[in-house]
Amino acid sequence: MQKLAIQGGIPLRGEVRISGAKNAALPIMCASLLTSDVLRLTNLPDLHDVGTMHKLLQQMGVAAESATGEIAFRGDKVDHWEAPYDLVKTMRAAILVLGPLVARFGDAKVSLPGGCAIGSRPVDLHIKGLQAMGAEIAIEHGYIHAKAKRLKGARIFFDIVSVTGTENLMMAAALADGVTVLENAAREPEVVDLANCLRAMGARIAGDGTDTITIAGVEKLHGATHRIMPDRIESGTFLVAAAATGGSITLRETRADILETVLEKLAEAGAQIKVTGDAIRLEMSGRPKAVNVRTAPHPAFPTDMQAQFMALNCIADGSAMVVETIFENRFMHVQELRRLGAQIDVEGNTAVVRGMSHLDGATVMATDLRASACLVIAGLVAQGETVIDRIYHLDRGYEHIESKLSQLGANIRRLK
Ligand code: UD1
Repeated sequence: MQKLAIQGGIPLRGEVRISGAKNAALPIMCASLLTSDVLRLTNLPDLHDVGTMHKLLQQMGVAAESATGEIAFRGDKVDHWEAPYDLVKTMRAAILVLGPLVARFGDAKVSLPGGCAIGSRPVDLHIKGLQAMGAEIAIEHGYIHAKAKRLKGARIFFDIVSVTGTENLMMAAALADGVTVLENAAREPEVVDLANCLRAMGARIAGDGTDTITIAGVEKLHGATHRIMPDRIESGTFLVAAAATGGSITLRETRADILETVLEKLAEAGAQIKVTGDAIRLEMSGRPKAVNVRTAPHPAFPTDMQAQFMALNCIADGSAMVVETIFENRFMHVQELRRLGAQIDVEGNTAVVRGMSHLDGATVMATDLRASACLVIAGLVAQGETVIDRIYHLDRGYEHIESKLSQLGANIRRLK
């Protein structure tokens, strides 16, 4: 199993290009199932999850032609409407094929995702939404089997805000008969990016980016070319790493408007931030100040940045409270941070972090994607060597992380 070894204590300096967003790429790739024409996607990140989704779509019969950073998908010969357990268990986002498959072919079989390191993460809202649109759904042998002659528009209220739930139903509704209204829908920028791609394919969607999305179904969608938006979580992760190490970096090809709460928190921690066009510059001198964080659906603070801010708070001046309201078991990094000398107390969904003057390098284990990013940040700050085990989690969501960090001056290498 591969590991990362980091010699900490070097402030990050320089420039780095931000990749296309994983959480926009995955649903948008599934949109290729909605048309028999070519959907050409550019700015696709080179990530393990993107490779897994590519493989899944190919297994279903989607033809794909790849060049660096782009893939042209053609869904005219899709003949296999199933997402098997071995793929879904490694990447929950595979559930996103469900809506497009039932909408276009009237039949879909997708494995239930099962347990996951950061909580139970059910998919009941995806299922209820499709049932409201007239799909017949059976849960058999660990699979969701959905059937429908043609989906019908419906008014659907989400009890809990769900990002992939909103995306799945938005794609299904694009080819349904009549109008669908999604209420208490997710407002994440990746939902807007998917809506932009679907509109380019001929879908009639309004209200994305708000909590009420209206979709007027059409007979057919056509091909399009779409550029994947920049990754706001990768952007935020590099900014926190620079702030925690007292560095100064510039991110290129990103967007500040999708990072507002994160930038506010970094400013509160004492960072100087300057936005120019698609670049964000951050400068930090001295030790960061502790910042309280409470995760909630967009536009509030993202759960996918919680672990990284926990790492920052570990070496900040003062104490901070970190409250996780989205996932019930998303503090797995706490145990590992303690191995580096962090002082953290956890009670339910709240962690109280007492900032220390320094952390000490140690061997730690990554437990999930964002927890891995948090350990990388802690390793960049810690004195001496930190070795991070199980970094396959990191490769699911961060494109070429060690070469990007090396480019910023970090002493980091992959142990094979
Ligand atoms: C997406 C993101 C993930 C991010 C999360 C929250 C992708 C591929 N992944 O995950 O990086 O951390 O949003 O911003 O975009 N829930 C239910 N029933 C459902 C669906 C969800 O109870 O049917 C609950 C979940 O358990 C969780 C909450 O709703 O507590 C939010 O989850 P959701 O937004 O669905 O997360 P994902 O879309 O899986």
